[in-house]
Amino acid sequence: MLVEQVIAFLSPHPGGLYADCTLGEGGHTRALLQASAPSGRVLGIDRDAAMLRRAQQNLAEFGERVIFCHDSFHHLADILRAQGWEKLDGILMDLGLSSFHLQQPERGFSFQQPGPLDMRFNQEDPLTAAELVNTLSQEELCSLLKTYGEERWAPQIAKAIVQRRLHAPIVRTDQLVACILAAIPGRRSRRIHPATKTFQALRIAVNAELQILQEGLTTALDCLKPGGRICVITFHSLEDRIVKQIFRTAAGRCRCPPHLPSCLCGRQGKIRILTKKPVVPTREEIAQNPRSRSAKLRAAERIMA
Ligand SMILES: C[S@@+](CC[C@H](N)C(=O)[O-])C[C@H]1O[C@@H](n2cnc3c(N)ncnc32)[C@H](O)[C@@H]1O
Repeated sequence: MLVEQVIAFLSPHPGGLYADCTLGEGGHTRALLQASAPSGRVLGIDRDAAMLRRAQQNLAEFGERVIFCHDSFHHLADILRAQGWEKLDGILMDLGLSSFHLQQPERGFSFQQPGPLDMRFNQEDPLTAAELVNTLSQEELCSLLKTYGEERWAPQIAKAIVQRRLHAPIVRTDQLVACILAAIPGRRSRRIHPATKTFQALRIAVNAELQILQEGLTTALDCLKPGGRICVITFHSLEDRIVKQIFRTAAGRCRCPPHLPSCLCGRQGKIRILTKKPVVPTREEIAQNPRSRSAKLRAAERIMA
């Protein structure tokens, strides 16, 4: 998604070192490798071992120019150290889940197909969505749905979950969907499926996505060379708010008059924000890939060592 725009911001060059923090199937990494041929290199990180295997197949032709790493991007500084790499010329984060995840019912991400209520990116992690749904109190469930799903029917859905699990644990996606539909009969939005926000909230909680983004983005800014750039693509307002806030804080507030060539007031931050407003997909891109309709891209450049 937004591949051309990412390449325009990162402007990859031969010899450059890049990190794709959310490798997925490798689409963005392929574009980075092509644009930085013949000698640019990409460190591709994914928390999901199955995605990493797919990317390895898709990117086999690039040989040692791409390094595959099964980890979470909030460990980026340690990953670079282990590789013997210093700072990077460019970093990409394309957050959330891939279409491949939604197409695998056994992973439990999709409310449209029956499967186990799992939702873990890393299948070695202990916490599943079923565990949350069956062990949190009604108040905790309600708060989770409000905070991570911005779900207006959170109290009704939390109550329905707790009542239903008295009979038997809710362990499958279709059981949870049935519960949500029963909790909000006749009051459904026609725009999105009634289970959308509940599934989003559970996925965010299972994978600690917002905490990891907060930590990972702060770390990533420190992994850039001066002049190095970062692009972050988000899919919902909770993520976008975090990116906007971290960028703003890191950019500081230089009060120097605009005609000065560089900052003299000492209040300048470590990055320059390149996107006043987030870049969004074109109509053609949305037509080709409807999931991209809520994507937002923000970019920044490291300005200090
Ligand atoms: C939207 S997809 C990326 C798609 C990719 N840009 C492409 O072109 O195919 C997001 C990917 O990030 C991975 N992911 C999510 N959270 C992660 C994290 N904290 N660290 C590393 N990978 C993560 C997911 O497993 C998923 O494969």
